[in-house]
Amino acid sequence: MLLKDFFIGLSQNQFLNSAAKKYGLKMGAQSVVAGTNIPEVIKSIKELNAHGISCTVDNLGEFVYQKEEATEAKNNILAVIEAIHENNVDAHISLKPTQLGLDIDYDFALLNLKEILEKASGYNMFVNFDIEDSGHLQPAYDILDELTREFDNVGTVIQAYFHRAQEFVEKYKDMRVRIVKGAYKEPAELAYQDKKEIDANFIRITEWHLLNGKFTSIATHDHHIINHLKKFIKQNNIPKDKYEFQMLYGFRRELQLELAKEGYNFCTYVPFGKDWYGYFMRRLAERPQNLNLVAKTVFNK
Ligand code: FDA
Repeated sequence: MLLKDFFIGLSQNQFLNSAAKKYGLKMGAQSVVAGTNIPEVIKSIKELNAHGISCTVDNLGEFVYQKEEATEAKNNILAVIEAIHENNVDAHISLKPTQLGLDIDYDFALLNLKEILEKASGYNMFVNFDIEDSGHLQPAYDILDELTREFDNVGTVIQAYFHRAQEFVEKYKDMRVRIVKGAYKEPAELAYQDKKEIDANFIRITEWHLLNGKFTSIATHDHHIINHLKKFIKQNNIPKDKYEFQMLYGFRRELQLELAKEGYNFCTYVPFGKDWYGYFMRRLAERPQNLNLVAKTVFNK
């Protein structure tokens, strides 16, 4: 737990976040971040598409407190949408509402998000709202609710560690929803702390959404959960067009390929960009074995 807290602390260090932006991918981040620019990420998407894997692309960004930065993030995402369309690759967008100015001004963020959804909608492209820590949860869901009155190409994430996860899963049953365990450090009054309880809640809400929801993205690297849900899907005859499995770029590649080969719809979350530091530190927090990535690049020079 201490190591997890240490890396979550590092992920939230704004000085280190902005210092890292000045450098290319370091510390092994290149294994889990698909480059720093659009041509690099399009190349990675094409490679995954060739294996029958679709992609959700995250132009990394967080700690955005200046309007100029949020506008730059919006323009970058618009350029990614254009590049996906031009290259005719099988991919859609994942973004964080804070990246588009949610911490600065609600209406400003709303306009940025509308512009993105409008452009994506013109290309029949889906946009997923990633969800961050509990402090941003309600504002993110509020802005999402407002946008769904106008757009139907938007979906979101539900974090199974929250005690309220079942309530969220019911609220968003008519939406394309990604279910994850949750990557941030949250207090016990809001979130389960024990891995067994988080896993059980993940399974509970995923099964509920598979039976009652529009489309479920099952986002986990946990083979115990994946195997359990494969059986559940079979027993309940859940149609293929109602769900997919998702994993992060660079993690459990063999398993990603295996699931795609078995005929499951599979989508890889592909992060790219200069703002890689916070994302990478959260991955180290989740799984200290990921430190091997760091060790390998430090020592294989
Ligand atoms: P977990 O870390 O709980 O591991 C469980 C078991 O799986 C391990 O004990 C091991 O056996 C196996 N395992 C896991 N990783 C492995 C590896 N690399 N190699 C071998 N075995 C491994 N979070 C959030 O808060 N907001 C968000 O918007 C998102 N978005 C998101 C998208 C996608 C596509 C994914 C996959 C995840 C997210 N997350 C997220 C992160 C998520 O909340 C969670 O922190 C991580 O997925 C880690 O939990 P897992 O369920 O993957 O496995």
